[in-house]
Amino acid sequence: MTTRRLVLSRSAAVIGAASTGLLLPEIARAQGNKVRVGLMLPYTGTFAQLGVAIENGFRMALNEQGGKLGGREIEFFKVDDESEPSKGVENATKLVQRDKVDVLVGTVHSGVQMGIHKVARESGVLNLIPNAGIHAATRALCAPNVFRTSFTNSQPTLALGQAMVKRGHKKAVWISWKYAAGDEAFEGFKESYTKAGGTILKELALPFPNVEFQALLTEIAALKPDAVACFFAGGGAAKFIKDYAAAGLKGKIPLYGSGFLTEGVLDAAGPAADGIITTMHYSDSLDTKRNKEFRLAYAKTFKMQPDVYAVQGYDTGLLLVQGANAVKGDLTNKKVLYAALEKAVIDSPRGKWTMSKAHNPVQDMYLRVVANKENKVIGIAAKALSDSGAGCKLG
Ligand code: PHB
Repeated sequence: MTTRRLVLSRSAAVIGAASTGLLLPEIARAQGNKVRVGLMLPYTGTFAQLGVAIENGFRMALNEQGGKLGGREIEFFKVDDESEPSKGVENATKLVQRDKVDVLVGTVHSGVQMGIHKVARESGVLNLIPNAGIHAATRALCAPNVFRTSFTNSQPTLALGQAMVKRGHKKAVWISWKYAAGDEAFEGFKESYTKAGGTILKELALPFPNVEFQALLTEIAALKPDAVACFFAGGGAAKFIKDYAAAGLKGKIPLYGSGFLTEGVLDAAGPAADGIITTMHYSDSLDTKRNKEFRLAYAKTFKMQPDVYAVQGYDTGLLLVQGANAVKGDLTNKKVLYAALEKAVIDSPRGKWTMSKAHNPVQDMYLRVVANKENKVIGIAAKALSDSGAGCKLG
């Protein structure tokens, strides 16, 4: 009885103190002890599985550090961005202003990224891009607080054109979604393919995330190119691969693509994907200890196979760990933090890579072919490929 009264009166005192504001600094300090990490990724729509793979990989890298960043506990804040560009600014603002994140990790879709980019530039919050390849983020609109761990949209396709011409395909049709990622992937393809002597017969497109491919596949059959090159990803990529085979084009007109076409979709696409050749900064079959260990640990933890998105998420975690360690968890020490991120060497399952001056990976591009539900390496399409970073004045 006495004990109970004592407890009651103590808690009454605590409530009293809190209501007069006496405990507030302590509460604030307790909250401040955690690093606030915002994840803005697609968890619904055609890119949903990409968002999940990125988050899995990211968490895996942090879990390897005991779930801490520079010795501090982590609190996560999540927003489903739905790959919806019109909500980009609003969603990023929620994480920055309402949740007061120290770092915003996101996103997948290039259009949504432009919304995040606006908020990152205006607020100065650290933004790590785990996928979206929009050129501007690491070209004309590059920023000291924005770092990308993935690619620019034209990086994979800059390595594709020459590989296709070398394989004897001199007349190609290009097909993709009509939005920044498709347009910029085409830019890289056009440059490399025409430079190698190829001719582009036609550029075909449909709005994102439309998957009614039939009319365009009929047009491809009529154009009779030597090969088709494309950019598609996620659920839409799986459908494109299946529709291409169902239209009778597989085996007649070789299908090439920037490697996203065959990432995370090989179970869904089945045998229709066999023989597709792509260029990408990762391959399941990379025969290194680092990659094999990563794949085993990822499969064990998440009960699914990792893909390029999982690797990019993982590398985003590795980068953040290096930065947080350099400032002993004090992410407000921006000068030291950014310097550490700029000179980071990421020991990735894709192979070691470094940051360009514009904050984009300098990395190898592999030539891969799909066989037995795996992207197998058949060569290096480009060594230490760097984006131009055109118009960026950093560094
Ligand atoms: C993009 O919108 O930048 C994007 C989306 C999915 C990919 C690659 C790029 O697989």
